Amino acid sequence: IPVDPFDFVVFGATGDLAERKLLPALYQRQRAGQFAEPTRIIGSSRTKMSSQEYRDFADKALREHLPKGDLDEEQLKTFIARLEYAAADGSSGEGFEDIKTLVDGDDRIRVFYMAVAPQLFGSISQNLEKTGLITPASRIVVEKPIGRSLESAKALNDEIGRHFKEAQIFRIDHYLGKETVQNLMALRFANALYEPLWRHGHIDHVQITVAETVGLEDRVSYYDKAGALRDMVQNHILQLLCLVAMEVPNSFDGDAVRDEKLKVLRSLKRINGAESPRVTVRGQYKAGASAGGAVKGYADELGSESGTETFVAIKAELDNWRWAGVPFYLRTGKRLASRLSEIVIEFKKIPHSIFDESAGVISNNQLIIRLQPDEGVKQVIMIKDPGPGGMRLRSVPLDMTFAESFGERNPDAYERLIMDVVRGNQTLFMRRDEVEAAWKWIDPILQGWEENRQEPQAYTAGTWGPSGSIALIERDGRTWHESE
Ligand code: BG6
Repeated sequence: IPVDPFDFVVFGATGDLAERKLLPALYQRQRAGQFAEPTRIIGSSRTKMSSQEYRDFADKALREHLPKGDLDEEQLKTFIARLEYAAADGSSGEGFEDIKTLVDGDDRIRVFYMAVAPQLFGSISQNLEKTGLITPASRIVVEKPIGRSLESAKALNDEIGRHFKEAQIFRIDHYLGKETVQNLMALRFANALYEPLWRHGHIDHVQITVAETVGLEDRVSYYDKAGALRDMVQNHILQLLCLVAMEVPNSFDGDAVRDEKLKVLRSLKRINGAESPRVTVRGQYKAGASAGGAVKGYADELGSESGTETFVAIKAELDNWRWAGVPFYLRTGKRLASRLSEIVIEFKKIPHSIFDESAGVISNNQLIIRLQPDEGVKQVIMIKDPGPGGMRLRSVPLDMTFAESFGERNPDAYERLIMDVVRGNQTLFMRRDEVEAAWKWIDPILQGWEENRQEPQAYTAGTWGPSGSIALIERDGRTWHESE
């Protein structure tokens, strides 16, 4: 269904995010027939260039980043024709009047997308307001990192909040736009099957893994200051945890969903310095092999020694009725054995077995929600091994891999999220109080690391992280689920 025509202003229009994600996502939505005319995309950055030069930039970017089969010359032509460009300086405000000449009337939906460093969010907002560009139908989209601590997150939220109302602020966490992440909500809230079991009486524990094979890439200055806890756990992993753990919201409305997620964040048990070495593990990769080739260690990539973690594992607990005693094991890292993101819900073992030993081991049921690669859901159950060999039991997955089941193109997370911004739907965006509640849990972990001088343990690139991560879960008599 097409949305109303809109003006989409991208600050940081020549940057990596615009090039790799935003322009392709907007193109795909146009191709899907969602744009009503006249819809305009206005690029802005400090670089001086004409609209024609920006169109050439976008044309090249799209040819490079779109899958070949999605490149339709007619569609591309229409898309390129809707691009305009105005150079502007987010700090001084120079050039904002030029942006104003490119946007349409006040009633029209206007999106300001901050594909720039967070230090500029405040000054750009201020300059937008000064120039009279913020209308009631305007929205602002901000990317992480939203601060590096509770205090800095609050300051940043205050700065943006001076110029935009909360209902106009869209804080993107692109994990929430992933198809399987949304499917987690469908699974939980559109089936009668799981809800009665979705609690401490039936679930043994939960694992959330976001494993990457990439290393530092070209993000040296950002990543070394952030580290895996701030880069991945504060946002993506805690958001996944919220979706698994939240109570059933009374509707799919933005605030109803976010109210429930907030309650989860607030019930996370604080990890203090004394506990930290037992329930958190930091790691940093050293040279090894990844994706078939030899790769350098983190310090070598960086060009200096560093105390930043590229891996983190945490045993998290929720202090609430539903999840009392159910650990949530979280882990994420760069240069791990494979690119794999999944949520594993492991159910409790059966209370009593009627089968004798010859039947084999009865393993716990698992529900595996795979975010990437091969998105899908698997319910692992025990069955009888087929054939006349007597009662031998075997664990098998009821497997629904989306690509096989639906064979459709899987839209990128940004496609979904961008259109939600245009529609004004905040369900899949983080509210201010959520971001701050997440930092409130992260801050003491960071402090504990500092107090204890908890340095990252080395792990070889291409493995599943430091041995401490394995010990963290094995101490509880459990193991990480490593998918074949
Ligand atoms: C980003 C992190 O938010 O997510 C990156 O800053 C990480 O470090 C990326 O690589 C992972 O996203 P995806 O969609 O590739 O899993």
